[in-house]
Amino acid sequence: MSKISAAITAVGAYVPDFRLTNKVLETMVDTNDEWITTRTGIKERRILKDKDKGTSYLAIKAAEDLLKKSKVDPAEIDLVIVGTATPDLPVASTAVYVASEIGATNAFAYDLQAACSNFLYGMSTAASYIESGRYKKVLLIGADKMSSILDYTDRTTCIIFGDGAGAVLFEPNEEGLGLQDEFLRSDGKGRPFLRIEAGGSLLPASEETVKNKQHYVYQDGKSVFKFAVSNMADVAAKIMERNKLSHDDVHWLVPHQANKRIIDATANRMGLDNDKVMMNIQRYGNTTSATLPLLLWDYEKQLKKGDNLVFAAFGGGFTWGAIYLKWAYNS
Ligand code: UT7
Repeated sequence: MSKISAAITAVGAYVPDFRLTNKVLETMVDTNDEWITTRTGIKERRILKDKDKGTSYLAIKAAEDLLKKSKVDPAEIDLVIVGTATPDLPVASTAVYVASEIGATNAFAYDLQAACSNFLYGMSTAASYIESGRYKKVLLIGADKMSSILDYTDRTTCIIFGDGAGAVLFEPNEEGLGLQDEFLRSDGKGRPFLRIEAGGSLLPASEETVKNKQHYVYQDGKSVFKFAVSNMADVAAKIMERNKLSHDDVHWLVPHQANKRIIDATANRMGLDNDKVMMNIQRYGNTTSATLPLLLWDYEKQLKKGDNLVFAAFGGGFTWGAIYLKWAYNS
């Protein structure tokens, strides 16, 4: 029997209707469309306005889109993983709730947290379960309601992030398609540069932490940028070299959507023209766990069976890495 590889066999996604444009942000903080566009590439982002809906709402919608398109019976799903930096609740996994709501009644479920690398690390986790032969259907969802942790008076963070969710199904493949190789890294030295200070075990919530706005995302953008731009390019180049892929062999770069300048630098290092680089940052901003599956969702029709895709991401922690995957179907 040939070796089992783990292929993506279906994609789904969801973004909320409300569009927060750069023009509207100009009325909220001291910023302007020109600064945001040239420094980040973002024009607008989607926001989940409903106060009573959390990340699970986005994740469920994305999963339902996948199930509807693929006609997969949710009762056949073995495992549901939700990558998220904004779980519904600090305790009681979002994935467990999502699995029940979508009818994945025979699955177990858990959350995964590695900030903006959530989906990338999740691909590794999901694929390993399939490759081992232990499970046949693993649903991986990346979902974040970033608006729930943003300070809309802080122009350095509120212009960057948006809400959204994407989902993929991993299944066994015997044609050698699916995940081929991964190079995943992390470095705890990055912790001070991108974090939420309070609300965890180190600094539990108190009147003081609320007053000091320590429950919002803090980012030292310049430092994170420096690490992201070199590390994302390094790992993408490394995975190409290790798999003897020339720029002609790579059909698509699927890069985390944090900043267009970081994406351009990565593509440049790989020797890729713009038409091989997936990009939707202009429409959604940085949706943290959802950027990679939202790209697959937007570009699905252009993907062909056998295409070589290189995924790359960088996030808080720090966490980063690259994955080489062969696309498994024509849509
Ligand atoms: O997804 C997880 C990983 N995250 C990332 O990869 C994000 C990495 N970082 C970045 O993308 C960029 O650092 C930012 C987009 C966050 C910031 O861009 P930058 O080019 O690094 O700007 P900066 O922080 O160096 O700020 C330059 C100037 C400053 O003014 P002065 O000190 O030069 O007078 C800022 O105060 O721009 C100012 N500034 C703004 N101006 C208008 C900062 N934010 C804004 C804003 N509008 N929204």
